[in-house]
Amino acid sequence: MSLCYLNGRYQPLDEAQVSPMDRGFLFGDGAYEVIPVYSRHPFRLEEHVARLESTLASIRLPNPHRPDEWAAIIREVIDRNVWEDQSVYLQVSRGADDKRNHAFPKVVRPTVFLMSEQLITPPDYQREEGVACVSAADFRWLRCDLKTVALLANCLLRQHAIDQGCVETVLFRDGFLTEGSSSNIFMVKDGVVLTPPKSHLMLPGITYDVVLELAVSHGLQHEVREILEDEVRHADELWMTSSTKEVLPITRLDDKAVGNGRPGPLGQQMYAWYQDFKNTVMRSG
Ligand code: PDD
Repeated sequence: MSLCYLNGRYQPLDEAQVSPMDRGFLFGDGAYEVIPVYSRHPFRLEEHVARLESTLASIRLPNPHRPDEWAAIIREVIDRNVWEDQSVYLQVSRGADDKRNHAFPKVVRPTVFLMSEQLITPPDYQREEGVACVSAADFRWLRCDLKTVALLANCLLRQHAIDQGCVETVLFRDGFLTEGSSSNIFMVKDGVVLTPPKSHLMLPGITYDVVLELAVSHGLQHEVREILEDEVRHADELWMTSSTKEVLPITRLDDKAVGNGRPGPLGQQMYAWYQDFKNTVMRSG
């Protein structure tokens, strides 16, 4: 049984209830985070809490908690659930009003909800073989840097991949790579790792930051710059990154092999560095 947190109370997930007037339900008016937990240690906790703060500020939703309070709630949710490795989901919505009105309520009582699931990272066969993806036009709004719960476009784009037996949809906007429906995308060409710069068109991924830090610390040649769709289609390697997928090779895009169709050496190296980094951080508490 999963234990969750709702507005100050820790309770079984199947007993938690939210008003149908909640603006998260009616308008998708809220922010969220997904925090991976390894051996009961939340990974990059400060960074997740800082990104939440940034999303809340951008959508003008007063942050109900200080960073130390968030950390305490997150740790309590981890402690109260059974798994060693977890995926903690945290959501703050603008709360319930007594009528449906697009404008913000005068008095905001945010709804704070956290739950945890067992963290399921990609199975060995996916890492060993790589995964197949499709591409699509990125038809989302112009604030993809905000981690809001209004994810219908992302859901449609992900389902587009699932319908074709693939795991992710790689998105292009005006001829340039943005990201995946729920991941960031890296490519390799001639030994250089490339990824798009942070902007309003993509989510500033926590894993994306870790991967770039590892590229710097290991002296891997890399460039953060705009990437043309055509470059992606001629990449030697493609990877997707996220808190739950970690670093996962993409070996087919739109039914064509990426590079030689096998996971490439730099992706495998980056995955190994990522695991080492995780283990080192977790051991140091
Ligand atoms: N998604 N881009 C999008 C659109 C995402 O939804 C995510 C993560 C990422 C990667 O961000 P990070 O490295 O911080 O996980 C990029 C989460 C896992 C989700 O919605 O479940």
